[in-house]
Amino acid sequence: MESLTHLLENNRLWAESQVAVDPQFFTRLANQQSPEYLWIGCSDSRVPANQITGLAPGEIFVHRNVANVVVQTDFNMLSVLQFAVDVLKVKHVIVCGHYGCGGVRAALENQRHGIVDNWLRHIRNTARRAESELNGLVHENAVDRLCELNVLANAQNLARTTIVEDAWERGQPVDIHSWIYRLDSGRINVLADPIRS
Ligand code: CO
Repeated sequence: MESLTHLLENNRLWAESQVAVDPQFFTRLANQQSPEYLWIGCSDSRVPANQITGLAPGEIFVHRNVANVVVQTDFNMLSVLQFAVDVLKVKHVIVCGHYGCGGVRAALENQRHGIVDNWLRHIRNTARRAESELNGLVHENAVDRLCELNVLANAQNLARTTIVEDAWERGQPVDIHSWIYRLDSGRINVLADPIRS
C-alpha cells in the first residue's frame, strides 16, 4: 500500500514554513476562525478556493460538491450555510462554477452515470428551462453556457433558503455572488451583480 509519505513530508515543510514567517500563525488559528466569505464551488481538483483567491487558512469557509449545486433539500449544504451565516457571520457567499465542468457536461448528455444522475437532475431542469438558447449553440459552448446558468440558478436558490431570508429579515448583510472560473486562464469572471436583501 502506498504510504503517502510525500504528502506528509509536504505537510511538515508547509507547517514549518508558516511558523518561520509568522510564529503565532497556528496558535492564532487554533483559537478561532473568522472568515468573511463562504465559498460554494465544484469538487473539481483544479478549482481550489483558497489558492485561486489568494486567501490563507482561516479566511474562507468552503463547501464543495459536484457542479456547485445549491438545493434547499441538501442538509449538508444547509448545515454549512447556517453555520457560516448564523455563527461565523460571513458577509459574502460566493457561488463559483467553472467552465468545462464535467458535472454540467454530464447533465447535458443522455447517458446513465449512476447515483450522480439524481444530483445532476437539478442542472437538467436548468437546461430544460434554457432549451431554446442552448439548442442554438455548438456542444462545447452549450456546456459552458449551462455552467453559467447553473451558477446563476444556484445563487437564486441560495437567496431563497430560510437561512438567507432570515438573515436579511433581521438586517444582517449577506451578499450572494455569482462567479465562474476559467480553467485555461486561471481567471474568475463575475456573472451578475451580487444579490442582496
Ligand atoms: Co466541475
